[in-house]
Amino acid sequence: MNHSSALDVWLLSAAASFGTPSYVYLASAIESRAALLRQAFEGRFALSFAAKSNPNPALLSLMRGQAEYLDVSSIGEFRTALAAGWEAARISFTGPGKRQFEIREAIEGDIGELILESVREAVLANSIAGELGRVQHVLVRIAPTTVPKGFGDQMAGRPSAFGIDWEDVARDMPEIAALPNLKIVGLHIYSGTQCLKPEAICENYRSFIGIFREVCEAYIPLPEKLVFGSGLGIPYHDGDLPLDLAAVVAGIAADLDGLKALPQFAGTRLVLELGRYLVGEAGYFLTRVISVKKSRGVRIGICDGGMNNHLPASGHFGMVMHRNYTMHKVGGQGEPEKVNLVGPLCTSIDRLAVAAMLPRIEEGDLIAVHNSGAYGLTASPIHFISHAPPCEVLIEAVGMRDVTHIPALPSA
Ligand SMILES: Cc1ncc(COP(=O)(O)O)c(C=O)c1O
Repeated sequence: MNHSSALDVWLLSAAASFGTPSYVYLASAIESRAALLRQAFEGRFALSFAAKSNPNPALLSLMRGQAEYLDVSSIGEFRTALAAGWEAARISFTGPGKRQFEIREAIEGDIGELILESVREAVLANSIAGELGRVQHVLVRIAPTTVPKGFGDQMAGRPSAFGIDWEDVARDMPEIAALPNLKIVGLHIYSGTQCLKPEAICENYRSFIGIFREVCEAYIPLPEKLVFGSGLGIPYHDGDLPLDLAAVVAGIAADLDGLKALPQFAGTRLVLELGRYLVGEAGYFLTRVISVKKSRGVRIGICDGGMNNHLPASGHFGMVMHRNYTMHKVGGQGEPEKVNLVGPLCTSIDRLAVAAMLPRIEEGDLIAVHNSGAYGLTASPIHFISHAPPCEVLIEAVGMRDVTHIPALPSA
């Protein structure tokens, strides 16, 4: 695996200054990814960053300058976002399990939009908005009947907790539209994630456009916002080809322009909602090899962080089969040889790599797991077996700093 020595200098220095296990985020990589998206889509989309992919407060603060909007999925994320300087008006709130107090706090806190996932939620939001004397802006989330093949996870196209099934739109929309304290300002679809196939992504967006047109025609004369769940994937494993973003744009630009050319949509903001494509490749998980064991012919490196710090890299975040995340030995050279890497937990499912080919691993070596900027730390069971949580480090043009947001263990 090729990796730049400049990157390794930063990673070595981060580990030396802040210790391991740790997450390291490169601000410049996030900024260039956001710039790439803007350049590629030529202004057709505004960006909405999904806080769930990485709610680190320093990173959320950085994202204020990279995305027009922020999507949160709990009141905890809403609070973190406000504390990180986001204006409530730029925030939306998705999630199928919003509780009453969350809806109340979001409305009281002047959130931009609630993304309604059901009539039940709409009725609840309407009565809270009424009590507060407000008219709350909402988008209605729709779950299409199909999702093209090629998405790592899908939230529609089968029985799903997310949004209103397409088949029920004609029944549910009039009910929501009649609620006096809600104003439907647009629609939202997030039906699939982690796709590396441009044709599948375009086909999905075309299906969104069809749904948006039909529903707006019937219920939303002048939509302000249409949210496209991006589905843009990243290459997690050696051998994955990165998404050809230019091919996505080439395949969908005419459809987007066609939509915008219709008078009803001339003033509509099209929004691309995404997480991993913006921040995933900008993050590295650093773990140090505590000991090396040879067991029945297999070399095993036991690391100071594993599944407890990085559940997805251990293969337990929706993967059917474990595939090693791309990783490298920091500062490592030499002939690659097979090694298993495991974490410190007392369970055989705590593994970071199975038969990885890395330069010979010795005690004290530093391993960098790539593609760890999204669904890393906060997607992991950090309390299992009570090891100290990893620290987080942000590298910016001015230097690097500790941006750890999960408190350390109580001291002895
Ligand atoms: C509603 C919603 N928005 C945004 C995202 C972010 O997806 P990704 O990080 O794959 O871009 C997800 C992922 O599950 C989601 O469910």
